[in-house]
Amino acid sequence: MDATDFDGVLVIGAGLAGLSAALAAAPRRVRVLSPAPLGEACSSAWAQGGVAAALAPDDSPALHAADTLAAGAGLVDPDRAALLAAEGPSAVRRLANLGAPFDRVAGGGFRLSREAAHGRARVARVGGDRAGAAVMAAVIARVRASAHIEVLEGWSLRGLLQDTGGAVCGALVERDGEVSALRAAAVILATGGVGGLYAETTTPAALLGEGLAAAAVAGAVIADPEFVQFHPTALDIGRDPAPLVTEALRGDGARLVNAAGERFMAAFHPDAELAPRDIVARAIHAERLAGRGAFLDARDAVGAHFPEAFPTVFAACMSAGIDPRTAPIPVAPACHYHMGGILTDADGATTLPGLYAAGECASSGVHGANRLASNSLLEAAVFGARAGRAAARRTGSRRPLAKTGALPRLGRADLRRLRGAMSRDAGVVRDAAGLTRLVDLLDALGDRCGEAGPLVAARLVAECALARQESRGAHFRADHPLADAEARHTLVSLEAGRLSRKAA
Ligand code: SIN
Repeated sequence: MDATDFDGVLVIGAGLAGLSAALAAAPRRVRVLSPAPLGEACSSAWAQGGVAAALAPDDSPALHAADTLAAGAGLVDPDRAALLAAEGPSAVRRLANLGAPFDRVAGGGFRLSREAAHGRARVARVGGDRAGAAVMAAVIARVRASAHIEVLEGWSLRGLLQDTGGAVCGALVERDGEVSALRAAAVILATGGVGGLYAETTTPAALLGEGLAAAAVAGAVIADPEFVQFHPTALDIGRDPAPLVTEALRGDGARLVNAAGERFMAAFHPDAELAPRDIVARAIHAERLAGRGAFLDARDAVGAHFPEAFPTVFAACMSAGIDPRTAPIPVAPACHYHMGGILTDADGATTLPGLYAAGECASSGVHGANRLASNSLLEAAVFGARAGRAAARRTGSRRPLAKTGALPRLGRADLRRLRGAMSRDAGVVRDAAGLTRLVDLLDALGDRCGEAGPLVAARLVAECALARQESRGAHFRADHPLADAEARHTLVSLEAGRLSRKAA
């Protein structure tokens, strides 16, 4: 296949990480490939909570970094957390300068909310629960007005191009069923997470870990893929994807109750509704499994103000005939965020020359075993920009292309089967029997369909979850409920279709 040459940076994915990278790469030419029109099919635009940053007078980057470390259950890199927290305030101001209309207090400062596991009020929000959509609208407007950026909508990733030395030098991309090879000086993967691999997800269902899989197939090292965060409160109305019921509601005093109206969180953690996200998710999972149901009751805490305070959640509830001013909201955990991903350094460089990664598909070291609420938009803005600047400095490879082929697609029926199995066997509570059953299914599907991207991504989660015989952060093993004394990273790469462990 002939490859079209482009002496610039190819950004694959158009959420906040990808677009932050594209803006920061200026004046280098950038092509942004997005599978959908900008702002659609990306989790960033669906984020409700906001952007966490130490903006309050009683706060500091050191305190923010300390909360990030504590949430990550021993697997956050302290230097990266310090970097994220230090760059946080300027990242929020940069987004505000692009036009993101953050909520303000009298005098012009940011109105800040407190969310679970944050020791301070430090989440900058927009219109209650509209942070993601508003931030993305501002960033998209700037991207469209930037002469150095060309946006190509309707293109999806099918694989990476490598030269004869193993460096990544472009991508195989598909539009309307036709695959093309596009060479570039550097490639930044910003393809988002793996929510679509689960039957219950709060993210766009199109997110199937394609970037993660393409990087793994090319030989990049993947870090901690077993750590998948389940949001405790997805709206439980049988919709796919499930609408998110933001944690900010609990921050504002909404209570979790069962069908009998009894609060249950105090039995699980002294911080009750504001306990770390994984603990709340497991508590809700247990309450539902016991047949008692789980609901978020915002009638007293928010009540009549609901439509203005949380317009997105209000609209979702009302669309299902639930008025949250007068009735508790049915909730269930759902896949929300992938902490693991393509291993990067502080500038987004992966272990493969020419390949960078940012946002949810990357493992930048700041989320560990459990991401702190509202750190994801911040990480996308900070590390996306760092990746963009680093990639812009790269000179392209002049070596010839090595042999390359597009990853196979997974059919609808197989994807449906995979999603059900991932939710059941690699979900909130896992054990060896379920994970082994899941790996067997992946083997069977792989034998029939080849190593399609979703199967590769699911295998990374499942095999590494099976191998981690402890419970840590969002990874809970019913058969190994305690954490090991020492926190260890999982580092793996694919060799001849099999996962091979690397020294941590
Ligand atoms: C939420 O609004 O509850 C989600 C925020 C996040 O995932 O950080």
